[in-house]
Amino acid sequence: MEKTNIGIIGCGIISKIYAKNLSQRFAGVRLAALADLDTDKARARAEEFPGTRVLEVDALLADPEIGIIVNLTVPAAHFSVAKRALEAGKSVYNEKPLTLSREEGHALLALAAENGLRVGSAPDTFMGAGIQTCRKLIADGVIGEPVGAQAFMLSRGVEEWHANPEFYYKPGGGPVFDMGPYYITALVALLGPVHRAFGVARKSFETRLIRSEPHRGKIIDVEIPTHVLSTLEFAKGVPATFAASFDVWGSQVPRIEIFGSEASLSVPDPNTFGGPVLLRRARTKVWEEVPLVPGFAENSRGLGVAEMADAIRAGRGHCADGALAYHVLDVMHAIHDAAAAERWAELESRCAVPGAVPEAL
Ligand SMILES: NC(=O)c1ccc[n+]([C@@H]2O[C@H](COP(=O)([O-])OP(=O)(O)OC[C@H]3O[C@@H](n4cnc5c(N)ncnc54)[C@H](O)[C@@H]3O)[C@@H](O)[C@H]2O)c1
Repeated sequence: MEKTNIGIIGCGIISKIYAKNLSQRFAGVRLAALADLDTDKARARAEEFPGTRVLEVDALLADPEIGIIVNLTVPAAHFSVAKRALEAGKSVYNEKPLTLSREEGHALLALAAENGLRVGSAPDTFMGAGIQTCRKLIADGVIGEPVGAQAFMLSRGVEEWHANPEFYYKPGGGPVFDMGPYYITALVALLGPVHRAFGVARKSFETRLIRSEPHRGKIIDVEIPTHVLSTLEFAKGVPATFAASFDVWGSQVPRIEIFGSEASLSVPDPNTFGGPVLLRRARTKVWEEVPLVPGFAENSRGLGVAEMADAIRAGRGHCADGALAYHVLDVMHAIHDAAAAERWAELESRCAVPGAVPEAL
């Protein structure tokens, strides 16, 4: 099979699993080169994957061998790096969030459309076997008509373990922009686009103390809300609750549940690719575990990149596409806008519901 050469820009923590999967896991892609502002980081990552070249960012963008740029930089750099990739004539796949602002996201999609290029974006976890199983259960009518949903991402933040936690407390970070993409993308993949959002947002702590190395003891000024409650109303009329927090030490609420006229569906952690998928049918008292559909149940970050490469070759649309990521970005902003204005925010964007993931990746 023809392979698309991948160039990764941004060689921090998350690049490890992308580099591993893009070099070994998928038939249609090959990890060709790595770049980072800090070339030592690219060099260190390349040592784990023999045969991978280390380039300066500009050289990687200009390299005619590279077909797709995978942008794993920090959120504040997502737009500028992706824009440069598109200007260099390459399709680009961003880590989440797509960009910081709606204007930037819109500009990327427009630039790609003008030049016949693709924009893709994480998360691709909704393409995993877990959420694909939920997608099929809903499409097959097993839960009946969806009547409601709830999603909770409650945690205590990343300064306990992440080596570079500061950006999580700046614009583009926070629980909604950092973790919301997993939850909102899963909900949109299962229930379709969102029509309007309401939010209540709070910054519980003005500062955070880093407890991880190498910045242990440093104090971060918090610039964004860290405890956010929202109501999302989907275009098909389904209401959902979504709560996201970096201020909670522990909670026993579920990750995501979808309530249907015939059954309730417990959706697995949308930050993973696997199960368990649990179903409680009408008038029963037990949750049954549903076998997963064939597909990717292990940590398959990069699946969205491989599927985008396959879709480009086949001339069809791809699953983790820019319109979906833009809609999710729009929802995240709408939650914060609604919280600030203390009234509902209507969503201007819409996106298609992604189809089933091709099995032959
Ligand atoms: N760490 C995680 O568990 C995780 C999980 C999923 C997604 N993500 C996402 O992945 C992205 C990166 O996260 P991370 O944890 O790997 O961060 P990180 O800080 O460990 O790595 C980011 C890297 O990008 C480089 N970089 C920054 N700006 C650049 C630019 N303009 N050009 C070239 N290189 C640049 C930095 O030097 C750094 O090496 C973020 O968008 C984050 O939301 C992280």
